Amino acid sequence: MLSKLIRKKQPALNSELIKRKELSQLEQLPSHISIIMDGNGRWATKRTLPRIAGHYEGMKTVKKITKFANEIGIKTLSLYAFSTENWRRPKKEVDYLMRLPEELLGKYLPELIEQNVRVTMIGNHELLPEHTKRAITNAIEETLHNDGLILNFAFNYGSRDEIVQSVKQIVNKVQLGSISSNEITEELVSSYLMTNELTEPDLLIRTSGEIRLSNFMLWQLAYTEFWFTDTLWPDFDESCLMDAIESYQRRNRKYGGLKQEEVN
Ligand code: FPP
Repeated sequence: MLSKLIRKKQPALNSELIKRKELSQLEQLPSHISIIMDGNGRWATKRTLPRIAGHYEGMKTVKKITKFANEIGIKTLSLYAFSTENWRRPKKEVDYLMRLPEELLGKYLPELIEQNVRVTMIGNHELLPEHTKRAITNAIEETLHNDGLILNFAFNYGSRDEIVQSVKQIVNKVQLGSISSNEITEELVSSYLMTNELTEPDLLIRTSGEIRLSNFMLWQLAYTEFWFTDTLWPDFDESCLMDAIESYQRRNRKYGGLKQEEVN
């Protein structure tokens, strides 16, 4: 029903974007891009539509950006889809957001499989409704052996919660004597986080003009390059992603050190 209210077909890539896509291959691409997809509600309100219409449109952007990121050779795309704080929203909106994995992954799974995309999830499964869990688990299982882009959904995810859980597990191991406190290193802590099979994000994008992290990947973003845009998530497109990537490619990543040519 909502789809009838909202603009439909995505235009094909224009020649300028195709050129930018080709040029992006000449410089180092970010391997892992994380996105805080913000602004769905405002997108809908501006059009006097219900907020959920913004989430529906945001879901279409997820499809578009996943396809494009895979085509240009991004290895991992982490999308913040539902935070541990989002339960505070009205029940109607939460219920709708809980339906989106089914809506997206149900219809879109064959396409994801064809694109060789692997779906993963970080976040706490336990509080999710059965239908949400089923849709996510099914997509994870069906794409387990794909080796293209990793599409990592952060769903019922909160970074502080993730850190607390990992601390508890480490303390437990120390108490059992299977590791000593001297063995607690940054690498060890990382290995207890939900992202333990992923590389750290190279580039973080947040849409909609908000400049904060909202409890997203606080540990993992320590050396990540940030890129903020006023564009609302439903309006975010391939050319916005290229803006972010091109900005990343102009950055000088030093991880707290110096480049060889800066040493005197
Ligand atoms: C933030 O915008 C967005 C969310 C809380 C939900 C993100 C969900 C999607 C992009 C849809 C795809 C999701 C899945 C699970 C496939 P907001 O509602 O806070 O916007 P506002 O700040 O303008 O109110």
